[in-house]
Amino acid sequence: MFLVSNMKKFAFILCSSFIMTQCTKHVGTTADAVATPYTLKVPPRFPAPLIPLENPLTEEGVLLGHKLYYDAILSSNGLSCSSCHISNKSFSSPLFVSKTGEHISVPPHINLAWNTEYNWNGSQPKLDLLCLGDFGPDFFNTNMSDLVSKLKAHSEYPSLFKKAFNIDDVGTLSTDELQLKIVYAISQFMRTLISSDSKFDKWIRHEGQLTADELAGYEIFFTEKGDCFHCHGYPLMTSNTFNNNGLDAAPTGPNLGYFLVTANESDKGKFSPPTLRNVELTGPYMHDGRFQTLEEVIDFYDSGVHWESPNIDPIMTKAFKKYGLSLSPIQKSNLLKFLKTLTDTSMMSNPNFKKL
Ligand code: HEC
Ligand code: HEC
Repeated sequence: MFLVSNMKKFAFILCSSFIMTQCTKHVGTTADAVATPYTLKVPPRFPAPLIPLENPLTEEGVLLGHKLYYDAILSSNGLSCSSCHISNKSFSSPLFVSKTGEHISVPPHINLAWNTEYNWNGSQPKLDLLCLGDFGPDFFNTNMSDLVSKLKAHSEYPSLFKKAFNIDDVGTLSTDELQLKIVYAISQFMRTLISSDSKFDKWIRHEGQLTADELAGYEIFFTEKGDCFHCHGYPLMTSNTFNNNGLDAAPTGPNLGYFLVTANESDKGKFSPPTLRNVELTGPYMHDGRFQTLEEVIDFYDSGVHWESPNIDPIMTKAFKKYGLSLSPIQKSNLLKFLKTLTDTSMMSNPNFKKL
């Protein structure tokens, strides 16, 4: 995580200064183009999405981003975003191991337009700038002049860049400008990856049933028995906060979490609670993938929480939890069944999200 998050943070700093100094230069912006506004369909009960003014969604921008997301043209090593963010795994994939040997669970892409910060430890507040880090040597190792030649010679990209951003010739952009347009388009596409049709959503909307076991699991999740909803609340199934759920007695290195971003002692051990939508598909679990299965996660919340962890969330240390949640095997199995009702298979089969 040091590697990935610091790299992304570095990219962010680089890019922020780039924006401040360069953005007034006119290189063909969405404002110039005749691109068609794209309106996100906000699911019932969802709050308003957070779309930055500098990168509004357009039909053409989303289409360009969609194509680029799946295209190894961006890299010199055959990788594309979709190598690690696989559509039928809810845009997650098995564990990523960095060059320094750090284990990082690959976060899924679901309802990203509602996140207030990104990466496990919140190192990146802007989705639009996050993937700038991917051009670097640890990911795409992009050769920018090769990329420009390939884009210019491509049968579709010149017209897609023109329609999305009114860019006549990508070769006239500086490296920073071109990278920014690419990640803007990809971010527009990622904001369309909405999931709101799980079995649980349908039950909430009175469009379907839950079984008795799933309902019993729902009760545990949404009451003080399990207390899960405080950090993984409906509808996003994350609270967009930072919390220490007690994974480590004395976190060190990457396990320090949000502390590595803020340097505040009171942030040691805190992480952003991931959305639990499609959680059945996104193992291994926790920022470092320490749990292989959801059964292990439930066992952890039931009896493995480290009360002595610094800054542990008060929700985890209510007096009656001293010896764990005391879930019976049946209750654990019901909680698991409930978690599986958060799977949205329609998202996985949506042609608008698949490789074009
Ligand atoms: C080699 C694997 C790999 C590739 C390729 C890759 N990613 Fe990721 N991505 C990761 C990992 C690992 C993380 C988690 C990093 C962290 O939290 O420290 C991540 C995090 C993210 C996040 C943050 C999600 C969240 O919920 O906070 C987004 C968004 C993202 N990647 C988008 C992209 C895009 C877009 C591309 C292509 C430009 C891409 N990724 C390419 C592995 C990869
Ligand atoms: C105090 C806030 C809090 C509470 C309460 C809480 N969680 Fe979490 N949860 C988190 C945080 C933070 C993470 C990420 C921790 C990390 O990776 O370091 C997490 C991670 C998870 C994950 C892993 C998801 C993934 O994609 O890797 C699952 C599953 C999960 N929680 C389920 C539950 C269940 C079930 C309950 C109730 C028994 C619960 N949580 C209660 C904060 C909380």
